[in-house]
Amino acid sequence: MAARPVLKMGDPRLLERAAEVGEFATPELLALLQDMRDTMVAERGAGLAAPQIGVPLRVVIFGFESSPRYPDALPVPYTELINPVLTFPDDEEEEGWEGCLSVPGLRGLVSRHRHLRYRGFDPQGNLIQRSVEGFHARVVQHEVDHLDGMLFPRRIRDLTRFGFQDVLFPGVPVLDD
Ligand code: NI
Repeated sequence: MAARPVLKMGDPRLLERAAEVGEFATPELLALLQDMRDTMVAERGAGLAAPQIGVPLRVVIFGFESSPRYPDALPVPYTELINPVLTFPDDEEEEGWEGCLSVPGLRGLVSRHRHLRYRGFDPQGNLIQRSVEGFHARVVQHEVDHLDGMLFPRRIRDLTRFGFQDVLFPGVPVLDD
């Protein structure tokens, strides 16, 4: 059990569709989640998807108590989500700055659905079903994108709103999704 290296943009493994988890509560799945937790904490991330540590399975984790980068964002409960399915109750979108542990040092303005319903399973196979909005909705959409081989820079509509964290937001602590 340990933090593992995070793959960076350019690695072809970050462009693949990850496979559904077929069996819950296995030692392999629990060990993967432990490594993902350790990695997210070590890298000070707000979320992490299994493909980012080279494991092509539909597993994401996310959550934080408070974010200096998003002082107004409500805390997001720490969640381990397997085989997630997203649905959008309406078409409303909102823009927000995103970063990613696989795209270190960069930030881009990305439009996401403001309201999100998601369902999936915890590591024991229990159903998780939530309706969320705002930053919680953004983090989940960002992480689930990783499961479909999508990194946030490809979602930036105006590439003039893409740049280095320390230039765009000098002095603001880094928290990557
Ligand atoms: Ni990411």
